[in-house]
Amino acid sequence: MLGPANGGILPVCEGSRKSPGRRGLRDRPEHSISSMNESASDNRSQSGRSDPALQGLRLGFLGFGKMGQAIARGLRENHAPADLHLLAFDAAPLADTVVKSVAGLQLLPSPDALEAQCDVLILAVKPGDLQTALAGLKGDRRYISIAAGVGTERLRSFFPEGQNPHISRVMPNISALAGHSASGVFCPDDEFFSLSAAIFSAIGQVTRVKSEELMHAVTGLSGSGPAYVLAMVHAMAEGGVQAGLPFPTALELARETLLGVAHLLRTTGEHPSALRNQVTSPGGTTIAGLAALEDGGFHGTVMRAVEAATDRSRELE
Ligand SMILES: NC(=O)c1ccc[n+]([C@@H]2O[C@H](COP(=O)([O-])OP(=O)(O)OC[C@H]3O[C@@H](n4cnc5c(N)ncnc54)[C@H](OP(=O)(O)O)[C@@H]3O)[C@@H](O)[C@H]2O)c1
Repeated sequence: MLGPANGGILPVCEGSRKSPGRRGLRDRPEHSISSMNESASDNRSQSGRSDPALQGLRLGFLGFGKMGQAIARGLRENHAPADLHLLAFDAAPLADTVVKSVAGLQLLPSPDALEAQCDVLILAVKPGDLQTALAGLKGDRRYISIAAGVGTERLRSFFPEGQNPHISRVMPNISALAGHSASGVFCPDDEFFSLSAAIFSAIGQVTRVKSEELMHAVTGLSGSGPAYVLAMVHAMAEGGVQAGLPFPTALELARETLLGVAHLLRTTGEHPSALRNQVTSPGGTTIAGLAALEDGGFHGTVMRAVEAATDRSRELE
């Protein structure tokens, strides 16, 4: 695991993450590692864990599939206050095991019954099901939409005319299932942003974006990003097989390499190129591997993957 599950909040556009400096890892005195850790975590709020904003809150999930369940479990497992009420409505009957996996979860018989009983609703149905799911709601609560590519204006159009519902948009990712989502949040209202951040820090790191247009980029980068990283891990493992390793061994090595590098990036706060240069000796094995990656246009291909997913998110709006 990458440290505590409730990572905290990083304001992405404000560049406030402290860097421990540009010295190489090998140059660093041992004792400075802990102070680097402290400086990285200084930026994190204590949101999520027993956040007062969650006390007594009635939080509803409209749609209780993979993401709804991951968020609800994250909240329960990260010591959210005991008086945080979790409620849900899902169009499909939920298995007993699912209901029992979230302590105190209350099921409601319809979306409007859920709305009537909640302060905040997380809209966790697929984008194409939103209009049906929201039909019949009053729009007099706060709503957090995690639907990919559906903008605030379009969301508002699904509520009754004349209502001006408070809407926050959050783009988590599938690592929420392991408590390590990187979630981008767009919410112009500071107070509602804090509440949204308190909820989503229970399932990982929260990063605020200041313009709704940037939510497409968040979708293309961190929303879809786990798939790119998984493709890389799979390819590395298959490379290991080609080089003679059994697949389980190769996969374990590839997976742990990913996890180790993620730790290293977070712990040191270094630029990825700076870390990479430290392991790339002249004429060595790593530069040979990197040259092969660049033969295949790796850097540009990954950049284009983020761009393509961002464009696709725009098309869906
Ligand atoms: N999964 C991800 O990696 C990920 C990442 C970021 C954001 N998101 C967003 O999160 C949202 C949920 O995704 P998910 O992966 O959790 O999907 P999911 O597992 O399919 O869950 C959605 C649930 O909503 C139910 N549903 C459908 N129509 C409904 C309605 N009218 N009222 C109430 N419930 C309804 C579905 O039931 P049926 O199965 O019977 O249709 C399903 O149980 C999507 O908008 C997606 O864009 C997902």
